[in-house]
Amino acid sequence: MNPLLQRLQPYPFERLRRLFADVKPAPAHRPISLGIGEPKHPAPDFLKRALADALGDGLSSYPATAGEPRLREACAGWLQRRYGLAVDAATQVLPVNGSREALFAFAQVVVDPTREGATVVCPNPFYQIYEGAALLAGAQPHYVASVAERNFAVDWDSVPEAVWARTQLIYVCSPGNPAGAVMPLDEWRKLFALSDRHGFVIASDECYSEIYFRDEAPLGGLQAAAQLGRSDFKRLVAFTSLSKRSNVPGLRSGFVAGDAELLKAFLLYRTYHGGAMSPVVQAASVAAWGDEAHVVDNRRLYREKFAQVTPVLAEVLDVALPDASFYLWAGVPAAFAQRAPGLSADEAFARELLAQYNVTVLPGSYLARTVQGHNPGAGRVRLALVAGVDECLEAAHRIAGFCRANA
Ligand SMILES: Cc1ncc(COP(=O)(O)O)c(C=O)c1O
Repeated sequence: MNPLLQRLQPYPFERLRRLFADVKPAPAHRPISLGIGEPKHPAPDFLKRALADALGDGLSSYPATAGEPRLREACAGWLQRRYGLAVDAATQVLPVNGSREALFAFAQVVVDPTREGATVVCPNPFYQIYEGAALLAGAQPHYVASVAERNFAVDWDSVPEAVWARTQLIYVCSPGNPAGAVMPLDEWRKLFALSDRHGFVIASDECYSEIYFRDEAPLGGLQAAAQLGRSDFKRLVAFTSLSKRSNVPGLRSGFVAGDAELLKAFLLYRTYHGGAMSPVVQAASVAAWGDEAHVVDNRRLYREKFAQVTPVLAEVLDVALPDASFYLWAGVPAAFAQRAPGLSADEAFARELLAQYNVTVLPGSYLARTVQGHNPGAGRVRLALVAGVDECLEAAHRIAGFCRANA
């Protein structure tokens, strides 16, 4: 067996299952889950039709790993409309089966484990795939905390020069999961300068880019590069997905775009790995990237929902409307610290909430790693507002009642 498998950590939902193993949820309430970040708004009908229409001859041939030109052109067209980018569809775009597999596979391409101290830098808290990708590529993850006082910006300045010197890959998540923070141009400038100095590659995970609450759409990594005169996207690849944008997490469709040289190597890897996208999914994806009306509607639903739910929770939790994403990243009341031996405040909060009100939330410490005795997710919970507004609002009122009764 590959010994690196031993280094993988239990996934947050496995830890949640264990935390809840002996909890009996209050039978008076029907269950509501704010645990998993899985979109629940309906998938658009036109997309289902495109999928069905493609079944005719879509199952009769092996797809090319590079994808059909019309799909790559649809992706490039979207990048042009969304970010004003001129991207070469033939060399700077590649379809992937959702951003998750691509974020994982990319590390296997970029990391050279034979180089002394191979390091992958990632935010803390973070999307768990970054860590598994780094470990299985034979690298050591270096976790960089996000700072609550600075709108959960990642504290890149805290990374020692010696760590940057051995860094081969860095994961950036903007808008971030779980805090929804969007990385501004100045931080991109800083990371590009570090990348130039140390030669590391930047993987920019942007799957929440279309769900935002400010007037201005989130800045993309490629857009930042272009604004700073880096139109070849040197050492930069962005990961984009239909899962959240178009409410189709089951379609498994996204794309990567950026540095042509890196994508050439990624294509080679994917050819052997078997990363080609089904022609049926490709056809539906062309339709999805070409339509913006459903994305605008979807964003409006999230905005209405967050406008109703956030104030209810802000009365009892340390929480505010994020820049973007569909999560609230909420600090739990101090009363939950030292509630039960061996449980962090966020774990105690999640357990008691389930027991008393049958609402599931994810303890923030499960999304982060403890570094020098500090877990930057501890004392916070992640609430995924993915269900309909009524259900999310009911959950918020239950949480408010729970906090008033227990804090
Ligand atoms: C930060 C982040 N990146 C990537 C993904 C993967 O999404 P998908 O594989 O559906 O594109 C998720 C899914 O929850 C996520 O939260």
